Amino acid sequence: MPDSVTVPSVRARKRSRGDAPIVVLTAYDAPGARIADAAGVDVILVGDSLANVVLGHPDTLQVDVAAMAHHVGAVARARPRPLVVGDLPWMSYHVSVEDTVRNAAVLVRAGAQAVKLEGGRPRVPMVEAVVAAEIPVMGHLGLTPQSVHAMGGYKVQAKEAPAAEALLLDAKALEAAGCFALVLEGVPDVVAARVTDALGIPTIGIGAGAGCDGQVLVFHDVLGLSEGRAPKFVRRYAELASAATEAVSRWAADVRSGAFPAEDETYHLPG
Ligand code: KIV
Repeated sequence: MPDSVTVPSVRARKRSRGDAPIVVLTAYDAPGARIADAAGVDVILVGDSLANVVLGHPDTLQVDVAAMAHHVGAVARARPRPLVVGDLPWMSYHVSVEDTVRNAAVLVRAGAQAVKLEGGRPRVPMVEAVVAAEIPVMGHLGLTPQSVHAMGGYKVQAKEAPAAEALLLDAKALEAAGCFALVLEGVPDVVAARVTDALGIPTIGIGAGAGCDGQVLVFHDVLGLSEGRAPKFVRRYAELASAATEAVSRWAADVRSGAFPAEDETYHLPG
């Protein structure tokens, strides 16, 4: 059996050094973790996209640390080979450094091996404190969904030169603060490639083009389980929602016709 993926092994991976791209998939429960593991992904992100794709909320602002810990625990109990990263939800790292470290520890005690948080230079004190508590941190820049109201919607970021420059400074600050990897979401490919080239830690892109050191997608998007129009960066590799609907419809029809349960699906008294 291959070894578990570790933070140092992820931190060391750069495509510019000839390493293979890092494959990151979200998962929120034990079956999802087992699928990600069996498929050979490198990192499972228990993302706060949980709020949208599992819990039916319109944005990621509706999940708290307890909800994230509940799902980190479900993923970790599958004992997956990929590294398990738990997303720190909105307001769990915005109030104080002490609060941030305690909330990160809750996710680690639930089974995360690292945490992720959104934002750049304003987050540096929080990142440094969490790293000092021996908890590895993954950064997240660009289109940061927890800033949906501040951004005025889910829009591609860093399209103008000053914003691209600010993104680069944020990325360098997060690396200096101790992040072991950095998610770049919803930014032009040239901007993501420039940040990737400027950093010694790997970048993980989502809607950030092919120049990153890895790619991340949401489980439900890859498998065709999510509702509504997907962003252009999503590629679906299955249509599980329609396959599941078809399977449940057949079972319902069998119940209604009396074809389910059959004799061999039934317990009988001995004798
Ligand atoms: O919550 C999430 O799923 C994420 C990824 C899309 C990067 O943050």
